[in-house]
Amino acid sequence: MIGRGLPNGKEMRLLIAGNWKMNGLSGALDEVRAVVAALKACPASVDVLICPPATLIGPVGAEAGATVAVGGQDCHPKPSGAFTGDIAAEMLRDAGASWTIVGHSERRQYHGETDELVAAKTLAGWRAGLKVIICIGETEAERVAGREEAVVDRQLATSVPDGSTASNMAIAYEPVWAIGTGRTPTNDDIGRMHAHIRAVLVKRFGAAGQAIDILYGGSVNPRNACEILAVKDVGGALVGGASLKAADFLAIIGAAPAA
Ligand code: PGA
Repeated sequence: MIGRGLPNGKEMRLLIAGNWKMNGLSGALDEVRAVVAALKACPASVDVLICPPATLIGPVGAEAGATVAVGGQDCHPKPSGAFTGDIAAEMLRDAGASWTIVGHSERRQYHGETDELVAAKTLAGWRAGLKVIICIGETEAERVAGREEAVVDRQLATSVPDGSTASNMAIAYEPVWAIGTGRTPTNDDIGRMHAHIRAVLVKRFGAAGQAIDILYGGSVNPRNACEILAVKDVGGALVGGASLKAADFLAIIGAAPAA
C-alpha cells in the first residue's frame, strides 16, 4: 500500500506483529479476544499480526477473523517428510496462517540456523503462499566491536532471497542484545541502522527495496513505541513480551502514526 503519505513521511501502512514465542495455552485466547474486540470497536491505522505457538494458530485465527492476521514463528524448508517435531510452511498455511517469521535470533542461537537455511525457509514460506518476516540483527559483542553493519550486510545478502518484495516479505531488525532485556538502541541508532538497511535493499532490489517494510524489534513496549515507530524507515514493530497482554499490545498498536 504505497503512497498513503503518512504524516511522519512514511509511505506505507505500518505492521505491528506480536511474537508470542513459546508462550500461550488456550487461556491466552482471552487476550486475542480482547485485542480483536478493541480493534473492531476502533479500527487500527496499522496492520496487526499475531504469531502464537503453532498449537494456537487455528484457534487464534478463528478468534481473529479478518481483524488480525495470524502467523507462524518458523517453518521447515521442505513441504513434508521425516522431520520429527518440525512444521512445514504448508501446515502453517493450512492452519490459517498468512505469515511466518524466519531467522529469529533465538532460532539462529539455539538451533544453529544459518543465513542459508533462513533463505531456504523464506522460499518455503513463499511456496506455501505465506508472507515472511526475515529477522536480522547483531549481538552485543558484534556491536561493541563496531561490526553491526557488517553483520547485517551479511545477513541481508545471504538470508534474504532474490525476488523479495513488499508484498511477500518484511525485514525485522532486532539487535540481539535488545531482545527481552528492556534495553533498546537510541532512536538515532535505530534510524541509522534502518537507513542503512534501506540503502542495501534499494541497491539490490531497486524500487521494490524502497517499499519493503523494515520492522524494529527488541524490547518495544507501550512507553517507547510512539518514539520508535516515528523513526524514519521504521515500518512497524516485532513485539515479544509486550504482545502477550492485550492492554500492552493495544497500546503499542495505538502508538503507531495514523495512516
Ligand atoms: P521482546 O522480543 O519484545 O520481548 O524484546 C522481541 C522479539 O524477540 O521478537
